[in-house]
Amino acid sequence: MPNRSNRALSPATKLAQALRYLEAETGAIVPPIQPTATYARDGEYNERKSYIYRRDSNQTTEHAEAIIADLEGAKDALLFASGMSACTAVIEHLPAHAHVVVPEVMYHGVLDQFTTFAAKDRLEVSYYAPADLDDMASKLRKGETALVWTESPNNPNWDVTDIAAAAEIAHAAGAKLFTDCTGTPPCATRALDFGADISFHSATKYLNGHSDVTAGVLSVRDTGAYWDQIAHVRKMQGTVLNTFDAYLLVRGMRTLVLRYERATENALAVAHHLEGHPGVEAVMYPGLPSHPGHEIAKRQTGGAYGGMLSIIVKGSEQTAIDVARFCEVFYPATSLGGVESLIEHRKTVSGDGFPVHPCLLRLSIGIEDAGDLIADLDQALERAGAVVG
Ligand SMILES: Cc1ncc(COP(=O)(O)O)c(C=O)c1O
Repeated sequence: MPNRSNRALSPATKLAQALRYLEAETGAIVPPIQPTATYARDGEYNERKSYIYRRDSNQTTEHAEAIIADLEGAKDALLFASGMSACTAVIEHLPAHAHVVVPEVMYHGVLDQFTTFAAKDRLEVSYYAPADLDDMASKLRKGETALVWTESPNNPNWDVTDIAAAAEIAHAAGAKLFTDCTGTPPCATRALDFGADISFHSATKYLNGHSDVTAGVLSVRDTGAYWDQIAHVRKMQGTVLNTFDAYLLVRGMRTLVLRYERATENALAVAHHLEGHPGVEAVMYPGLPSHPGHEIAKRQTGGAYGGMLSIIVKGSEQTAIDVARFCEVFYPATSLGGVESLIEHRKTVSGDGFPVHPCLLRLSIGIEDAGDLIADLDQALERAGAVVG
């Protein structure tokens, strides 16, 4: 709908109104679901508006993509059936034996893909210590490295990478910078503004926010042949986000700003409470001034640090598992970014081969009452025997 005064609207307004959606014919203000799998050609046997088949794209998914592209300040965005299928499309589009530089600790599924592609001799992979830009720079090969992968904040230790500095390093070597900012959605961090070439979010998490959709989205500053190749992988593998999930995602994004602000507020309260708690060895949360990446996080999120934090529980691995088991408000489940708080023993989920502290619990803080969350953690730490003396 036209905005007569032409005043730029803030992201919160555009999201709440699904990009000022208004159906011209009926006046409906909620975007429709268009479930067709195929599209009839016109009387001249031409495609109408270039739609042919659902696997290429569909209108509901395109509406969700337009909302995200606008939020990211991107030239274009593509939605996939999961975060993993979006990441895999980027990996798949690279030429055989391409050299990539990736963090040695990151979301375990993506790390697994790199290890698998390297083992099949499909890619050459060099690993760097997360957020360590000197180590990253030392792994790049000028004119040869195709892609640098960053995840910030980095799952599950929540190290923070300086995206602008990483972009400089990647670009100086002629590589593209990929940034997974799943932990801080684009209402907090717009990775493209800091120089990333491809910004990625598992839309399963904050963007949807209700733990009822899996989706992944790539957004880019510049399109071109590489972007067409990524879209081609999506089409050929049939990993476009389906219509019904796109509808749910649009609905979820309408409350993104509110949900994310509340999750940040709650996470700050929980992190401050747990820092120095007698049952907790360490709290990893970029919103804490004691966190080594705090200043970078402040710059990259404007203080909207999000709801993700991890703690190292005092005691044994079993003590940590017991804390997760004994929670009564937190659900003992994997995933993140939903309205409900989750707690998980990360080593159980990511497996033995993944480098993670055995006593690490990952907390996804939701939008419940912060007092209820804190009381729940206190009783679980006490009951598990993490608090001694
Ligand atoms: C940082 C990060 N990247 C990628 C993914 C994969 O996304 P999905 O589960 O939507 O496939 C996840 C999932 O937890 C994640 O946390």
